[in-house]
Amino acid sequence: MKVKVSGERRPVRPSPRPAEGRIEEVRKVPSPNAPLVVANWKMNLGDQRGVKLAREVREGYAAISAGGAPRLVLCPPFTALPAVAEVVRGSAIQLGAQDVSWLTEGAHTGEVSAEMLSAIGCTWTIIGHSERRQTLGESDETVGRKVRRAVEAGLTPILCVGETWDERDEQRSEVVVMRQLESALAGVTLPARRRLVVAYEPVWAIGSGHAVSPAEAGHIASLIRHLAVDGSHYGFSCPYPDEQVEVLYGGSVDVRNVKLFCQPGVIDGVLVGGASLSVRSFTELLRAIGEPVS
Ligand code: PGA
Repeated sequence: MKVKVSGERRPVRPSPRPAEGRIEEVRKVPSPNAPLVVANWKMNLGDQRGVKLAREVREGYAAISAGGAPRLVLCPPFTALPAVAEVVRGSAIQLGAQDVSWLTEGAHTGEVSAEMLSAIGCTWTIIGHSERRQTLGESDETVGRKVRRAVEAGLTPILCVGETWDERDEQRSEVVVMRQLESALAGVTLPARRRLVVAYEPVWAIGSGHAVSPAEAGHIASLIRHLAVDGSHYGFSCPYPDEQVEVLYGGSVDVRNVKLFCQPGVIDGVLVGGASLSVRSFTELLRAIGEPVS
């Protein structure tokens, strides 16, 4: 591809002076292609403990994010979102919800709309986590509606897909992931420059302490990318530009294995549950991403 270069040089404007006390963090905004870490707190830390952890994570993240800082999204429970939004304001940390309604507004008891989430500063939302699919009976169809709604409302969806142990045993991992992806993305048009994130999370690996092998995760991640980018052969209606698709791995990611799951060009980052619930394990994990593999 040819890149057009104009001969003109723009005058260099001095960058605005950052507010007192923010200098370190302002300089340390990670690159848009740095690994992406999404912390899924699940139904934990919905009170002051969430605020405390967010504060500690902000401090820890600012201290380690000098070079090769991962991008970071915190996904607390709904009730903690406004308070955590205050804590991360002005930092490079972004805010995500763990779910979103596919409905817009009105008489829908218990639902939280995409607009409500945007209004409090959320820019991301997890959709179709296996705990919602399995325990709360969320169908492929509902997951698809949520993805469409999130994109329409300007939230970046983090779509979770992955097979159960039995499905893997029957060597159906690929078929299951393809089905989930196809129904979630049907009719989803992605505006220019907006990203779609797909998290490959084998159900059996979540919270079990047994992550999938990095090679297997890489294989499924490549399949996901291939389908999202070039899936018209498989009947996918909306292939997306490569640079707008990110694939994460999730399932028992911790400080020891995180680096193996950040494989530039194959796996763009990680979705972390248990290890994101304590400042120590989480900041160690964030730090490990920037360190060389031993
Ligand atoms: P885990 O959870 O890191 O505790 O396995 C990941 C997830 O469920 O998103």
